[in-house]
Amino acid sequence: MKDSPAPGFATIEWRGDGLSLIDQRKLPTEETYVHCPDWQTVAEAITTMVVRGAPAIGITAAYGVVLAAQAADGPLEVALEPAFAGLAATRPTAVNLFWALDRMRRRLDGLPDDRAAAVAALESEARSIHDEDRAMCGAMGRHGAALLAEGCRVLTHCNTGALATGGDGTAAAVIRQAWRDGKLVRAYADETRPFLQGSRLTAWELHRDGVPVTVITDNMAGWLMARGEVDAVIVGFDRVAANGDGANKIGTYALAVLCKHHGIPFYFVGPTSSIDPDTAGGAAIRIERRPDREVTHVGPTRLVPEGVPVENPAFDVTPAALVHGIITEHGVMRPPYGPAIARQLGLGDPSTADR
Ligand code: MRU
Repeated sequence: MKDSPAPGFATIEWRGDGLSLIDQRKLPTEETYVHCPDWQTVAEAITTMVVRGAPAIGITAAYGVVLAAQAADGPLEVALEPAFAGLAATRPTAVNLFWALDRMRRRLDGLPDDRAAAVAALESEARSIHDEDRAMCGAMGRHGAALLAEGCRVLTHCNTGALATGGDGTAAAVIRQAWRDGKLVRAYADETRPFLQGSRLTAWELHRDGVPVTVITDNMAGWLMARGEVDAVIVGFDRVAANGDGANKIGTYALAVLCKHHGIPFYFVGPTSSIDPDTAGGAAIRIERRPDREVTHVGPTRLVPEGVPVENPAFDVTPAALVHGIITEHGVMRPPYGPAIARQLGLGDPSTADR
């Protein structure tokens, strides 16, 4: 089987002396690109959601470190500290951010003395993070699609596609592969309040690939399930803990509970770089709280009366007990997830690793 074709847009493009990012705040009405000439603009782009999605955040931050190295004076170990700290402070939940920064930091060991060669080595590491993610997307797509039956209808949440990764996605890669295999008859994309990643982004990229996609508001999912119109729910994740609990876009937990009630399989799809073996369970995952304005307004239009408080947690945690399988680039993990995760990450004796 072949890997997916590259999408006809560049979510993250390294230009040698800067980073170009498609501006995801403007889609689907405008396809414009933001140029980041330094690590500070890269950090701002992550914070403000020009770029988002766990793997894409990690890749972007890695290139941010390269930009910092290009501009650095003095020993890199010292000069890069503000960039490492500033990039790490952008978004707390997606573990890929910290995973990619750790990987860039480890590359600082044993760099050549020559500054140009040292920067080139960091650039090569960032490119590898990007390229490896692309390959992992293809593998996840194939592993996930193999689980689906002919004629399936899949519901997904948020955006997990080419806009969220270095390739054609995590859960969206499964949807794309199932469509190419002739198995998928329809994808349902939850609108995904409040930032609308489903209706603005997932619908945009799947529709331009010719994948049949229907947008529903988040509160329609249960009724579709009750009518027998959903065969599987497939979503990405920002951080899966050592026991299989997973943080993903707010609303994911409710979908998993609905799946349990209706006997529908619920799958997480993500690369092993989104798994955090150092976090024992979901309760320890830090959930980002985003600005009120994302809830109180759509564009310039106020939806909530002045003075009324709102909540805006960007993610929720789905307990492992509600998850039928976790699909990574290595294959499909089934419960109990502790030993399965330890095995996939190569962490010691799996029989003693269940936490
Ligand atoms: O707040 P976002 O848009 O960065 O949230 C993204 C998600 O929740 C995705 O489902 C997740 O990153 C995993 S798939 C790439």
